[in-house]
Amino acid sequence: MGTVEDLRPIFSPKSIAVVGASRSPMKIGYEILQNILVHGYRGKVYPINPETPEIMGLKTQPSVLAVKEDIDLVIVAVPAEFVPKVMMECARKKVKGVVVISSGFGETGERGRQLEAEILDIARKGGIRLVGPNTLGYKDPIDNLDAAFVFGMPQKGEIALISQSGALCVGMIYYANGEHIGLSRVISVGNKADIDDADLIDYLDADPATRVIAMYIEGIKDGKKFLDSARRCSKPIVAIKAGRTAAGSAAASTHTGSLSGSDAVYDSAFRQVHIQRAYDVDELFDLARALAYQPAIHGNRVGIISNGGGAGIMIADWCESLGLRVPNISKKTAEALRPHLPSISTARNPVDVTGDARFHRYHATGAIMLNDPNVDALIMTCVHAGIARPREYVGAVIKLVEEKRNLKKPIIACWVGGPEINEVVQDLRVKNIPVYPSAMRAAKAVRCLYDEGKRLELIDKKPAKNSG
Ligand code: COA
Repeated sequence: MGTVEDLRPIFSPKSIAVVGASRSPMKIGYEILQNILVHGYRGKVYPINPETPEIMGLKTQPSVLAVKEDIDLVIVAVPAEFVPKVMMECARKKVKGVVVISSGFGETGERGRQLEAEILDIARKGGIRLVGPNTLGYKDPIDNLDAAFVFGMPQKGEIALISQSGALCVGMIYYANGEHIGLSRVISVGNKADIDDADLIDYLDADPATRVIAMYIEGIKDGKKFLDSARRCSKPIVAIKAGRTAAGSAAASTHTGSLSGSDAVYDSAFRQVHIQRAYDVDELFDLARALAYQPAIHGNRVGIISNGGGAGIMIADWCESLGLRVPNISKKTAEALRPHLPSISTARNPVDVTGDARFHRYHATGAIMLNDPNVDALIMTCVHAGIARPREYVGAVIKLVEEKRNLKKPIIACWVGGPEINEVVQDLRVKNIPVYPSAMRAAKAVRCLYDEGKRLELIDKKPAKNSG
């Protein structure tokens, strides 16, 4: 079986058993069972617990072997020393996939490493694919399956998230929800004893619900396998590689038992396979959102509209320092702009529509810039100055995105102001129009779309696999 078929029983299970399903609401085994049930999972659920006949209205079984029907996925939440026995039972039951939530494995030292090797050996011999150990589980908002502890479903969307840190994974879900960034599948990989980033890249590349793969990585064990998967992946990948410094690397070794490796090696490897590197959670989602919802570009010329000169200048600086260009506009474009601009403003790029602009000036100048053949992408910025109309400008951006979709030019918003701005830009976020609070973040979003364009050009040039 290929990876995709191997992993289907885990991520698309027809039935799930929870070993260590607990009667106590304070325990992880309770929370997992609750999460599976409350989010409307439609398959069969079997709580496994030898100490009680019933949990949450469901009849329990003393072990997976007592379940008469087939089980696709077993989620294990019992202390580490009992996990090998549970794995043996899963192998006898011919279970295809296991998620081991339990900690106490490779991340804890020699004894834990032995235990991890033992459960991996049982999995391999029994034909079981294994997520974890030391994982949060996974959350699937598309198919309404919450197979993780910690409450809270991500908003549905097209960005898949793979995280080596469970706690950070939860933080990233809440962050994404707050920014109205939708996710397709969220997978906490833990110690990656068996299923690793490469397997998940292959799986998500074949997933029709996913457009972009976002990753938080502490260490990669099999570099070649990872690079091969990333190279053949047809979708953009954005990744944080943490443990860049001596202090971070030491912390990663006790967190998930990872060897962080040389940062320079990761950097060059990522570049080779066109993984876009992010350095923090906001940057990961900044880039992922742009890649998911804006077209890739094959030129690096950026048009800029601003309602305040300073904001336009800063964006121009960031564009140029990131290897983008802020081109001169054509004579035709300058002539078209002039009637829309007040006499104090010059018809040039960046276009300063000045502080008293209303909807029509902001919209008309944006449309003219997008029509200029020398412009590949447009950044529209608003600074919340006294007489500015941020809500009208939001309306203008939304209208332009809808009207100019066929041009395949990204439109990126950059809104600078206080807390009230955050409320105004929700209208952009719910429509998946990337909006950033700083010139640097907006320019980086355009840069990543340009890099994605170059990646796609290289894929196009590669000979087809079956061409003679
Ligand atoms: N089969 C089925 N059920 C079993 C069992 C077995 N072999 N052994 C124990 N149980 C039952 C227990 O009776 C208990 O149910 P109860 O509360 O109704 O009595 C339940 O399973 C849980 O077992 P318990 O021994 O109480 O374990 P626990 O809940 O205290 O701890 C873990 C289990 C897995 C949560 C804990 O060992 C652990 O690893 N915690 C950290 C998890 C983590 O952080 N993971 C990484 C996240 S990123």
